[in-house]
Amino acid sequence: MSPLPLLTILFFKLWNKQLHVGRNVEIDPRAFIARGGRVTLGDESVIRAGAMLLPSSGSISIGNKTSINQYTVINGQGGVTIGNSVMVAAFVAIFAANHIFDDPNLPILEQGTGTRGGIKIEDDVWIGTHAVILDGVIIGRGSVIGAGTVVTKNVLPYSVVAGVPGKIVRSRAPRTTSNSKGQT
Ligand SMILES: CC(C)(COP(=O)(O)OP(=O)(O)OC[C@H]1O[C@@H](n2cnc3c(N)ncnc32)[C@H](O)[C@@H]1OP(=O)(O)O)[C@@H](O)C(=O)NCCC(=O)NCCS
Repeated sequence: MSPLPLLTILFFKLWNKQLHVGRNVEIDPRAFIARGGRVTLGDESVIRAGAMLLPSSGSISIGNKTSINQYTVINGQGGVTIGNSVMVAAFVAIFAANHIFDDPNLPILEQGTGTRGGIKIEDDVWIGTHAVILDGVIIGRGSVIGAGTVVTKNVLPYSVVAGVPGKIVRSRAPRTTSNSKGQT
């Protein structure tokens, strides 16, 4: 391994004391990992150029063999947990936070931010380019999220979800799996 990847990991570990890096992790020197929260990168995970991991007082956990591609932004305020062998394409937005806007008499800027419990992406998920994953959502294992999809609700395991808002276009699951309320 050339010294640059090792220097990059060393730099980010010095920068963010709450960064935990597994074995054989690759962080492109043009990626960015902010301070202000715990960030865990599993074994053989890959963080590519331009990707931004922003824990924002929360946490971001990325599993083994998971790749975060170019210019994807992850905000971990409410907690973001991504499982093993997940592929997150370029230009994806994963935001575990919202601005509060309850009071119409106060600028939204002054109302602070809140979270609906964070985001969980289970193992073996593929997220297509320009998808947006909103706070409070669980994406079940084995699912595929189409390019440009806005995921607003939980996704059943082994679903293929596409569109705005995201809807199931087909299932990868055996026929015995049934749909239930509140899930896409
Ligand atoms: C979702 C995807 C994987 C295709 O899955 P699929 O199960 O083969 O789906 P199909 O192509 O058979 O399409 C099924 C339906 O969903 C629609 N659909 C597929 N992808 C869509 C998308 N991204 N957004 C909206 N609708 C979509 C199709 O138009 C089709 O609709 P119809 O039944 O009304 O004709 C693919 O379209 C996609 O979005 N790939 C992501 C590519 C990408 O981001 N690559 C970069 C990272 S490697």
